[in-house]
Order: sequence, then C-alpha cells, then structure tokens
Amino acid sequence: MKIIAGNWKMNGTSDALHTMITALNDVETSNTVIICPPFTMLGVDGGRVALGAQDVSAHDHGAFTGEVSATMIAASGAKYVIVGHSERRQYHNETNDIVRAKATAAIAAGLTPIICVGETMDEKNDGKTMAIIESGVRECIPTDARHVIVAYEPRWAIGAGLTPTREEISAAHTLIADTLRDMGMDTTPILYGASVKGSNASEIMSIDHVDGVLVGGASLKPDDFIPIITSVN
Ligand code: 13P
Repeated sequence: MKIIAGNWKMNGTSDALHTMITALNDVETSNTVIICPPFTMLGVDGGRVALGAQDVSAHDHGAFTGEVSATMIAASGAKYVIVGHSERRQYHNETNDIVRAKATAAIAAGLTPIICVGETMDEKNDGKTMAIIESGVRECIPTDARHVIVAYEPRWAIGAGLTPTREEISAAHTLIADTLRDMGMDTTPILYGASVKGSNASEIMSIDHVDGVLVGGASLKPDDFIPIITSVN
C-alpha cells in the first residue's frame, strides 16, 4: 500500500475538485489518496480521498493577515498539510526553522504534516545533496513528532520534466530512512516528488524506501492522476 498525494499548487477550481473526487471515489485501490488543493477549496467531503492544505501558519490565531492556522485547516476536515515545499522556500524564503515551526503547529492541531526536503540545482552541482537532505530531515521535524510524512523533492526536477536516476532516488531515500531511524521515527512514510507521471510512477515506487509519491502537474486531471494511483497496490 502506497500514499499517492496530489499537490494542486495554485491551480484548479471547486468544480474541478468535485470532478476529481467523484472520479477518484470510483477507483479500486488500497492506496491512500490525498489531494491538497488551494485553501478556498477545502471544507468539502472527499469521500475516500483525504484532503490537505499546501501551507499553514506557524501561529494559532491573531493579527496575521492572509495566514491560515492549523486549527482552521483541521476544522475544515482536512487531515494533512504540506510544509516546506520548494516553492515556499523559493518565493517566501522559508527556512528549515520556519518549516519546523509550521510542522509543530500542524501536529498540535492534529494534522499530519508532509514535510518537504530536497536540494536545488546549485546544491546538487556543489555535491551538497546528501547534506541538504539530512539537515532538512533533522531540522524540519519537530522533537517528539510521531505522525509525519517526509517528501523528498529534488528542487531542480520539479515541474521540469526531469527525474533523478533510480540510483539517486535510492540514495536519497535510504539516507532519509537511516536518518529517521536514528531519530526514532522509522515508521515514517517517505514520498518522492518531482515530475511523477503515469509512465514512471510504478518504477519510482518500486525503489526501496519509496512509500508513495507527491505529484504536482499530473495530479490536476483524473486522466493523468488515476494511472498513477492504479500503477501500484
Ligand atoms: P511536478 O509533479 O509538477 O514536478 O511537481 C512536483 C511537486 O512539486 C509536488 O509537490
């Protein structure tokens, strides 16, 4: 059983989400399916599809215009929240410390954070991939956290149609699994994300320590997302 999560980023409409939920509820699968649409589309019944947000405030309430708290997300019925996505790090300067604060807020509200780590192209070219991944895992996961998901998203491969080699994915996921074991969190699922599609999903999920995928572009339409869900059991 794998976890197949869709990150809609700033795309879609409530109608599109309704269409997706209806289509997914007809799919025979034992996999856990999660969709993370924009905030305004949360608050609906996903049926067998769990819903998640794409970001969360580190604060619980108050004068933080434009922010949405973990309590509010949980009250919408969502179960998950993505934190530390590459695009939050790139466009909103989120650091590992900020990501950990957000993950802490999510856990306190009963949400499962999907904590993203991964290297940029410059970091990859500088030979820093493993160091960035390990420090991401150690610095972003709150102490005493239990229910979290880690997503390895090589930042240079997101939306680029590029995928790391099987060996690169394997090395990254083995390092994350070893680090999580060292932290006493060896049952934490580890997802792979970046340019996952129907044609590469089963191969990627056959790699050791890949417990599922976090899908961007190919999660927006049922015709693209369903083949990913049904590519594994
Ligand atoms: P793509 O699947 O479009 O590369 O996006 C991956 C991603 O960022 C998922 O969070």
